[in-house]
Amino acid sequence: MKTRILLIFLCVSLCSCWSEPITNLDSPDEKILVEFSLDEKGKPMYEVFFKKNAIIKKSALGFNFKNTNPFYDNFKILNSSFTEFNETWQLPWGEQLDVVNHFNELRIELQEKSDLKRKLNIVFKVYNDGVGFRYEFPEQKNINEVLISEENTEFNLTEDYKAFWIPGDWDIYEHLYSTTKLSEIEATTKRNHPSLGQTYIPKNAVNTPVTLVGKNGIHLSFHEAALVDYSGMTLQVDTINLSFKSNLVGSKNNDYKVKRKLPFHTPWRTIQITDNAPDLIASKLILNLNEPNKLGDVSWFTPMKYTGVWWEMHLGKSSWDYGMGMLNGEWKDTGKRNVNHGATTENVKRFIDFSAKNNIGGVLVEGWNTGWERWIGFEEREGVFDFITPYPDYNLDEVTNYAKEKGVQIIMHHETSAATETYHKQQDTAYALMQKYSMHVVKSGYVGNILPKGEYHHGQYMVNQYNNAAINAAKYQVAVNAHEPIKATGLRRTYPNIISREGLRGQEFNAWSSDGGNPPEHLSIVAFTRMLAGPIDYTPGIFNIKFNEFKKENQVNTTLAHQLALYVVIYSPIQMAADLVEHYEANLKALEFIKEVAVDWSETITLNGEVGDFVTIARKQRNSDNWFLGSITDENARDLEIDFSFLDSNSTYEAKIYKDGTGAHWDVNPLAIEFETIKITKDAKLKFHLAAGGGFSMSIQKLHVM
Ligand code: NOJ
Ligand code: CA
Repeated sequence: MKTRILLIFLCVSLCSCWSEPITNLDSPDEKILVEFSLDEKGKPMYEVFFKKNAIIKKSALGFNFKNTNPFYDNFKILNSSFTEFNETWQLPWGEQLDVVNHFNELRIELQEKSDLKRKLNIVFKVYNDGVGFRYEFPEQKNINEVLISEENTEFNLTEDYKAFWIPGDWDIYEHLYSTTKLSEIEATTKRNHPSLGQTYIPKNAVNTPVTLVGKNGIHLSFHEAALVDYSGMTLQVDTINLSFKSNLVGSKNNDYKVKRKLPFHTPWRTIQITDNAPDLIASKLILNLNEPNKLGDVSWFTPMKYTGVWWEMHLGKSSWDYGMGMLNGEWKDTGKRNVNHGATTENVKRFIDFSAKNNIGGVLVEGWNTGWERWIGFEEREGVFDFITPYPDYNLDEVTNYAKEKGVQIIMHHETSAATETYHKQQDTAYALMQKYSMHVVKSGYVGNILPKGEYHHGQYMVNQYNNAAINAAKYQVAVNAHEPIKATGLRRTYPNIISREGLRGQEFNAWSSDGGNPPEHLSIVAFTRMLAGPIDYTPGIFNIKFNEFKKENQVNTTLAHQLALYVVIYSPIQMAADLVEHYEANLKALEFIKEVAVDWSETITLNGEVGDFVTIARKQRNSDNWFLGSITDENARDLEIDFSFLDSNSTYEAKIYKDGTGAHWDVNPLAIEFETIKITKDAKLKFHLAAGGGFSMSIQKLHVM
């Protein structure tokens, strides 16, 4: 991996014994300012300013512990130091190639004035696009282990922002976004979580990323970076004083939330700060706060589009389970097989043929392995799933050989059903099996309440399960796409085999949820909230929007053109073409876009957007001169003008346009789509009409003069 350090860093260290310690820090462009202070009682506080306006008023920093006195006040500054750092590093795959990592750092070393003289460091990194800070617990005489019962990081805000939020659920992020004033956040009643068991929302708290929009156009997003061996952080909301306070995810099994030996540091607490919505998407703060690549070359993973035996189960056309039964005390093939079992050799071959024909690199196969008869809703799930034994109607050798011949890769599926001990035990064997068959991507799933009982999906125990599974997978050249995951916090920089994840209400909700599915505005919010955390396996591309043949009560709440635009708008290095083969074959003209669209990018430009309303993104394909563009709107129709000045000078491009047709509307006429091919240069300014719940996309190919 190529890393260019452009500016040698400068470090100034001032000891409080001979001079006032440094406690202020600017961003490199001087627009953001952080001020650290101790109040009269020695309590650590910080403030943040953007263009001279307070964004975070004096806010306290500290901890409560189970095994020792809190870190609260009575501190003095022992030392403080300043560093400037500027490098450009490269993503092995991603939404862009080069990432500029330019920040100023302030390290404050604190010590208690009491007898114990315990030490705590607070490190701030200030970038042009926001602030990250974390606590470091250095090695010291009087503590060697902490049991953190709460982290008390405050974010005292200065305005009653418009907030885009999901509840601070300890088990699942699959909630609809609410848009309310900060003062009107009421998370505990937002239990809109149909059809999935686990949900636990103990406080009026939100999950992160949570995005706020201010009256004067200030955009803030709160999240965390490098979540390692610690609990996920929710933000408890004080609707009266307009503030957030960290509320860590706990466990019923312990009366503390995090257990760590010293030395260690917490994840970064992050505040992205911009004065417009598109710049939030451009921000690389979360990635930059993570450590560089520890895996080295990961070229064994190729970004790809994929199809799969998947949507058909969500529609109820086929089943995951084969229909095994209990015979003489054992689960066996009793001869009463489900006639509509999805993962059969024959069905998978059909997906392989279709994918090979349409420039799609992978086929996901769910329901291929034993255990699906006893997964969801069963208390006793340990030892049920097996990640190496196929059902009798699925021939792994035959399928993988066939796929290889056709130049397609089978994507493995490990539904753990949140039975973590079983998965932990079987992981090596399961990944080794994948390696044997040259399978480089696994989709893992964690549906259901966590086993061991009492743990939550987002607590320290599970953070370690998710991270260790990915680190272990890398040894077998396996890349991971987790569903029901822990939130993305930029760890893909350090472990680039962490390729994508769910962690939001995905497309699947449109197939079966009892609350009407994902509304037309869903992805116009997701692009400015969840997507700031990292790649999303949303599984776009549903062509048969109403699917009345399968489900009369459910539908996708967007137009077909909107579905196509998602291939560009929503970033993931693996992008599913989620619909059934027969639905694609019924609309070959629209399929052309999925066939052409790239999945790996050298540049990304967010051309316009407002959180929750609309967004247009242009991305340049890696190692190519071609661009792709996607634009989506919420339930409101709108007209947008696109300026193509991002294209190269002196060049002509052929642009294929896929846009909402006359009368298109997400509900009454979702399939109206028009196709147009025109020639454009960088001087083009084109107007587009987006229908309610609609969108458009473009494939823009440079014409090379012979
Ligand atoms: C939930 C996942 O989100 C979905 O994609 C998958 O099909 C099911 N679990 C079964 O594993
Ligand atoms: Ca899910």
